[in-house]
Amino acid sequence: MPIRINPSILAADFANFEHELGRIRTADLVHVDIMDNHFVPNLTFGLAMVDRLQQVSPLPLDIHLMIDDPDRWAPGYAEVGAYSVTFHAEAATDAVALARRLRSIGARAGLALNPGTPVKQYLDLLPEFDQVLVMTVEPGFGGQSFMASTMPKLEALSAAVKSSGLDVWLQVDGGITAQTIEIAAAAGADTFVAGSSVFGADDPTEQIALLRAAAARHDHGHE
Ligand code: DX5
Ligand code: ZN
Repeated sequence: MPIRINPSILAADFANFEHELGRIRTADLVHVDIMDNHFVPNLTFGLAMVDRLQQVSPLPLDIHLMIDDPDRWAPGYAEVGAYSVTFHAEAATDAVALARRLRSIGARAGLALNPGTPVKQYLDLLPEFDQVLVMTVEPGFGGQSFMASTMPKLEALSAAVKSSGLDVWLQVDGGITAQTIEIAAAAGADTFVAGSSVFGADDPTEQIALLRAAAARHDHGHE
């Protein structure tokens, strides 16, 4: 199974996104954190910015919506051409209807779970999603420490995906470094968001290669 490294532009230079996107060409997707100052305390950017990034990005966009009322706002991100749109289970009113809507527009549909949100009730919904995002920090800010306590959820998801035969990507987001990526890969993750560890590196290309190699070493999830 392929490993995907998705740098988060939350850690990039906000005044030079086009240049910053050029520094991560060896990555797989660009992770874009949308925060609304309600679902999370922080505020980033919205649909107009994503529409523009979509035009200039050499890589597909992986949109992570940390917003209230995704039922209302998420389809717009699919409509501007985002490759993948992930919304939070805690915020959605009808997660299945929303996922179907995103897919019908042509985006991959993703479901995100906060560290404190149990996974059990979502395992039956796997056929409705292309990706599940297990948050490995409390959403809202970059640069936080990886919470290994979330790994049992990933293991449960990985087992459920394997037994279902579905192609659902398992993503982790928060505190991913060359060290913690091994823990997440061993627990079954295949898609890794990394903000500070990529954009904080002197050479993002080298860091992306390092992350990829570290994940591949511990990729028990897809033997
Ligand atoms: C946190 C965001 C993350 C963030 C990760 O709420 O969802 O995508 O950019 O940043 P690092 O990799 O620095 O923990
Ligand atoms: Zn994110």
